Amino acid sequence: MCGIVGYVGSRPATPILLEGLHRLEYRGYDSAGLAVAARGRLKVTKAAVRVDELRDLVEENQPSPVGIAHTRWATHGEPTDANAHPHVDGAKRIAVVHNGIIENSGRLRERLAAQGVTFASETDTEALAHLIGAALADGAESLEDAVRATLREVNGAYGIVVLDAQNPGQLVVARNGSPIVLGIGDGEMFVASDVAALVRYTQRVVYLDDGELATITADDFVTSTLQAHRTAKTPTTVDLDDADYQLGSYANFMHKEIWEQPESVRRTLLGRLDERFGTARLGGINLDARALRAIRRVKFFGCGSAYYAGQLGANLVEEWARLPADAEPASELRYRNPVVEEDTLYVAISQSGETADTLAAVQELKRKGGQVIGMVNTVGSAIARECGSGTFLHAGPEVSVASTKAYTNMGVCFAMLALALGRVRDLSVSDGARIVAGLDSLPSLIVEVLGAENEISAVAKEHSGAERMFFIGRTRGWPVAREGAQKLKEISYVHAEAYQAGELKHGPLALIEPAMPSVVIVPDDELLAKNIGTIEQIKARGGPVIAVTNADLPDGLADSVIQVPRSEPELDPILFTIPLQVFAYHLAHHLGRDIDKPRNLAKSVTVE
Ligand code: F6R
Repeated sequence: MCGIVGYVGSRPATPILLEGLHRLEYRGYDSAGLAVAARGRLKVTKAAVRVDELRDLVEENQPSPVGIAHTRWATHGEPTDANAHPHVDGAKRIAVVHNGIIENSGRLRERLAAQGVTFASETDTEALAHLIGAALADGAESLEDAVRATLREVNGAYGIVVLDAQNPGQLVVARNGSPIVLGIGDGEMFVASDVAALVRYTQRVVYLDDGELATITADDFVTSTLQAHRTAKTPTTVDLDDADYQLGSYANFMHKEIWEQPESVRRTLLGRLDERFGTARLGGINLDARALRAIRRVKFFGCGSAYYAGQLGANLVEEWARLPADAEPASELRYRNPVVEEDTLYVAISQSGETADTLAAVQELKRKGGQVIGMVNTVGSAIARECGSGTFLHAGPEVSVASTKAYTNMGVCFAMLALALGRVRDLSVSDGARIVAGLDSLPSLIVEVLGAENEISAVAKEHSGAERMFFIGRTRGWPVAREGAQKLKEISYVHAEAYQAGELKHGPLALIEPAMPSVVIVPDDELLAKNIGTIEQIKARGGPVIAVTNADLPDGLADSVIQVPRSEPELDPILFTIPLQVFAYHLAHHLGRDIDKPRNLAKSVTVE
């Protein structure tokens, strides 16, 4: 979703801004632009183009040591040149880039129009530029005061950066519901909506909180609240560098991230498994044995793949801790006035840590006194900070829109949480030790799964002509089927629907025919015979079957078989998802899709 970059220092800003935008491309966008200030004037270049094309449009000879830039994901108004950011005021003195949505922009635009303002775009952001310009013209003492006065009139979510051509030694930034991070350089300062744009230049960062503003100059930054109270911020060092955002020898980020999974799982397990007592230590959740025992129910919530991962987590909690557990989409939870119980543990799940619905659900649950922890990948993100305690996924930066390694690490972290909950209850030490050993062997089993990439690619190629597919699973296989369908639909645009095996005969069986392949999840567990029965039902109706299994299926039962190594049965859902990532990846590849940037999707959904 939209990306912001800003720079103030002594180097030419334009190359730094373009490079920053390039790093944010993965978030998804439909237009791009930048503004620099030189000799008291703004120079704005923007269009409904990719960042590479913007580079060609930018005049070489605009050396300015200050500027702002943006990649836009259309909300108010079509993706056109006029609606691209930055937006300027009537005097062309103020330029603004903005992520988020200004909810009362209609009323603000009407008021400005009545005062004679002519709008150059249909955006909510342009109203901000005119209001800030007007506040300065009316005698605001500083750009920061003008921005503060404007934001007091605004309802909605924003991360903004403002440039004043008549005061080019500074930028003013503000955040409410949409991330803004400052990057502290040596005699230069950066700002972005995502550290990905900064890590090439600096690892020292400051995350703004909601309701905070900052004035940044080449050498300093000063933060304050919307009510003009100064705030104190301590810079932190991010454990990331530019190489984390480079493709290396991979064709695209999804492929790279699929292959990073053995390492990212190893990283998330590091120091957290306790072999002696057959349990897991998740220090960040700040719950001792007594507090863990006091939990009577666990609710996982997140969006999209994070929600499906939550379902996998809920199953593990029920299996090992024998506590009632379920998962719910955060987008539902936030609006349905949930009954919040004090002995329920609420687990917010997010890769980006910025998903608006998940953040709002955390806030609503906390407001009602709920006990919320975060399972988040991005350190410093809004959800991680809002939760206050929890576990980082340590998957490393995930650039591809389709989540892979973060999803897997969610599953692994939930397994550790369920193990810890189980071991303070009735899960025996020997079962605990068995699970610890199972978790420990996951990285090498993932290497084995990935070793079958060519075979999985061949199966994907064989079925790449299909316009629709079923993904069928039951109990442990159900979240696997859902995530498998999710991966396929989002990157290949093949219609994929997940169904519980037992539900097939209650309706969907009518859709089975030779043109409707079914991917059936068949773990070698106590439901093996049932799952074989499901395959037979599908075959009897002429439906092709791709079985994903760690069992020895009878020859000829399925049309194609994707074999998965054996792990502890409860951990099958984590392992079984990986060949489905590979399957979706190769099927999309055979169809020539833009895998890292699927149409209509953004990496981080910071608006509703
Ligand atoms: C699917 C995918 C999305 C995200 C969802 C939540 O591959 O990536 O469904 O899982 O948008 O995002 P996060 O985890 O960042 O909150």
